[in-house]
Amino acid sequence: MNLSAIQQAMGPQSARFHVQWLARCGSTNQVLLEAARQGAPSGTLIGAEIQDAGRGRRGREWQHLKGNLAFSLLWHVPGDPSGLSLAVGLAVTEAFSPQVPDLRLKWPNDVLWQQKKAAGILIEVARPEWYVIGIGVNLGDAAALPAELNATALPCANREQLAARLFVALAEVLDRFAASGFAGFHVQWMARDAFANSQVLVSGATSLTGIVRGIDEAGALLLETNAGTIRVMSGDVSLRPA
Ligand code: BTN
Repeated sequence: MNLSAIQQAMGPQSARFHVQWLARCGSTNQVLLEAARQGAPSGTLIGAEIQDAGRGRRGREWQHLKGNLAFSLLWHVPGDPSGLSLAVGLAVTEAFSPQVPDLRLKWPNDVLWQQKKAAGILIEVARPEWYVIGIGVNLGDAAALPAELNATALPCANREQLAARLFVALAEVLDRFAASGFAGFHVQWMARDAFANSQVLVSGATSLTGIVRGIDEAGALLLETNAGTIRVMSGDVSLRPA
C-alpha cells in the first residue's frame, strides 16, 4: 500500500490519522487493541496486506483474500455508542458512492452488494469511549471467494484512492456521530436496509422470526412478531422464505 498516495488523496483530513500498513499480522483489531492499551492516540489506523487470524463478529473468523482491504481504526467516541456500527456501515457505502450506488446494509453491520456480503465491520471496545473499528472489504475477484461464504467483491480501480475515500468518510461519520449520535443517521440507514419488510430469522441468545420493520433511532432492529413488535439489540439476521 502506498501511504503517501493515501495521504495525498485524503487532503486536510489526513492530519487526523496516523496510518501504518503491515505486510502481515494476525488481526489488525488485535494489534490495535494492544496499541490502544499502550496509549495510541485517536486516529491510529493499522492496515494489513494479510491477516492470519482475522476476526469476525460473534467469534467467527474473517477470511482474508488477496488484494482485500483490511484495517482497524482507533477512535475516541464520547457518549452513547448505540448504533455506532450501523453508522460505520454508512461510511462504507459513502466511500463507494457514486461508483457503486446500490450497496445495501444488513443489520447490524454487514455491507451487501447484489444480496451478497461485500464488507464486514467488527467494533471492539479498547476502553470506555475508545473503539477499535475493524473493517474488511472484499475487492477484486469475486470468483476467488469460497462459495459457502455467500460473499462478493466490489470493483476497485485504485486501492489507495478507495482507502482515502473510506478514511475521510469515516472521519465525517464519526464527527457527526459524536455530535448527535445515531439519530441523525436513522433515515439514511433505512434507505439502505437490505431486509426491509422481509421475513427473517434472527439468531442470537434466543431465536426469533418475524418481519423487519426497520430500526429505531438507537439502531435497534424492529421485528414484527406474532407477539407484537420487538426491539432486537443483537443477533444475526437471515432471510427466511415466507
Ligand atoms: C464480520 O463481518 O464478521 C466482521 C468482519 C471484520 C473483519 C475486519 S478485517 C480488519 C479487522 N481486523 C480483524 O481481525 N477483523 C476486522
